[in-house]
Amino acid sequence: MTAAPGFYARRLSRPGAVLAPMAGYSDAPMRRLAAEQGALWTVSEMISARGLVLGNEGPDLTIGRPYAGEEGRVVQLYGAEADILAEGSRRALSWFGAAAIDLNMGCPVPKIKGKGGACLLLTPEVAYTLVSAMREVVPVDVSAKIRLGYDRVRAIEVAQGLEAAGASLITVHGRTSVQRYTGHADWDAIAGVAAAVSVPVVGSGDVTDLPTLKARQRSGVAAVMVGRGAVGNPWLFAQAAGTLDTDPTDAQRAHTALRHAELNAEWYGERRGLLQMRKVLPGYFAHRPEWREALVRCSTLGEVRLALDHLTATGTAGESRVSPRPGTRYAESRP
Ligand SMILES: Cc1cc2nc3c(=O)[nH]c(=O)nc-3n(C[C@H](O)[C@H](O)[C@H](O)COP(=O)(O)O)c2cc1C
Repeated sequence: MTAAPGFYARRLSRPGAVLAPMAGYSDAPMRRLAAEQGALWTVSEMISARGLVLGNEGPDLTIGRPYAGEEGRVVQLYGAEADILAEGSRRALSWFGAAAIDLNMGCPVPKIKGKGGACLLLTPEVAYTLVSAMREVVPVDVSAKIRLGYDRVRAIEVAQGLEAAGASLITVHGRTSVQRYTGHADWDAIAGVAAAVSVPVVGSGDVTDLPTLKARQRSGVAAVMVGRGAVGNPWLFAQAAGTLDTDPTDAQRAHTALRHAELNAEWYGERRGLLQMRKVLPGYFAHRPEWREALVRCSTLGEVRLALDHLTATGTAGESRVSPRPGTRYAESRP
């Protein structure tokens, strides 16, 4: 497992895209599929530093634990206290084999208000002390992921402060916290941040296809991060890396969708893993919305296999061979 400073610089020496941290999505199975397709690195779902330090959690924590052989995975922590983040970083490194540690400064969810996340954009001087404290205790890169601001754009000032505090890389999601996920990510503002600091800046927001990804790669950022657009589309990482120039066929999509379901069943157990797949499977066939109903009903690996065989063989949703159950909609809770 990689555990040395300079991780980001090494990974940025080739073209490609980065898998975004996404609570409820960027788990071990999704990270594995993204890494296999050549993602520059992947970032875990955010983990509470307090939970690591003061809670009952240990090396088995599902959202922290790496899959066998995982490398190039950044662990993202949230919190607001320097001593807790320092100790949390130490544990994330020794327990989870983090390649680098990232500080969450973008989560707008009220339940973590006052405990870090995007609130740090209101008091960035606190974030600077957090980054310095983390830097002091771990021998790996420390980075931060910010939004453009809390309710007004101040990303340049914040990024410069983070750089001075020792951040090795800054990721910018091109929205303010009050915008949450509405409107469009402002890539001009992201480019402005990239031009104003010397450390690499990764841009995030609304990249869902190859033409957009290529355009964003030319915007002045060191790399492009992909979140929602990678759900059911790990091939985007191979396309970004320049190792794939076609779109997958339905048969290839079905093969990988089944593999994703198998990895989920292995990681979480079949029941929980397959329930979680309901929000992911339709993403593999976003161009076939009529297949959705059949895909969100599957609750066993056998049902996934049958549904995929039937859909890809006939090309239609047709008669369903699995019992109807209500489906889960995509990404209702967005930190
Ligand atoms: C369901 C969901 C969960 C997210 N969880 C996190 C998180 O844990 N940490 C974080 O920094 N950003 C999180 N984000 C923000 C993404 O990393 C990303 O910046 C944002 O979605 C914009 O990129 P996209 O349009 O490519 O999805 C989350 C976004 C979504 C949709």
